[in-house]
Amino acid sequence: MYEFKTVDFQSDLYYKVVDLRERVLRLPLGLKFQKKDLETDSNELIYSLIVAGNPVACVQARPLGCDTVKLRQMAVEQSWQGRGLGKKIISKVEELLRNKSYKQVELHARKTAIGFYLKMGYEIDSDEFTEVGIPHFRMIKKL
Ligand SMILES: CC(C)(COP(=O)(O)OP(=O)(O)OC[C@H]1O[C@@H](n2cnc3c(N)ncnc32)[C@H](O)[C@@H]1OP(=O)(O)O)[C@@H](O)C(=O)NCCC(=O)NCCS
Repeated sequence: MYEFKTVDFQSDLYYKVVDLRERVLRLPLGLKFQKKDLETDSNELIYSLIVAGNPVACVQARPLGCDTVKLRQMAVEQSWQGRGLGKKIISKVEELLRNKSYKQVELHARKTAIGFYLKMGYEIDSDEFTEVGIPHFRMIKKL
């Protein structure tokens, strides 16, 4: 039904993933990506689930040293949410990161998504803070 792919920076698929990220994560907040928001993408591992040539889920991993990565830009196409794709892409990415010898994952979770990450085994590791104008918590998981 879907295919898991690593996304090459600035490939055709990359630009489709940027569009998915913007539609799911930015436009509902009245925001759009600025050039600076995408500047670090070239240094990150970008992953996607593809259906009929189009990305329906994505997430990316930014190395923070040898042991830790930060997951960012986790998004599932609205019409595909609640159908297990978020769980599938995170599980697959955690497996790949474990194989690359990373020991810990951290992320900034929107308050509305905390329940999803708790189900995936993440723990809250901060007080509430604001990012992109909405409440977030830092969460961590040992791999
Ligand atoms: C949050 C998001 C990534 C989850 O992906 P998804 O594909 O919808 O989630 P899944 O269907 O894989 O859900 C896995 C489990 O988490 C639960 N879950 C999913 N979203 C949840 C939420 N927002 N709050 C609480 N639980 C949630 C599901 O009920 C499911 O539980 P189960 O295993 O007991 O059945 C997705 O809904 C999304 O992109 N939301 C909008 C953008 C966003 O918030 N991104 C995260 C930014 S930090």
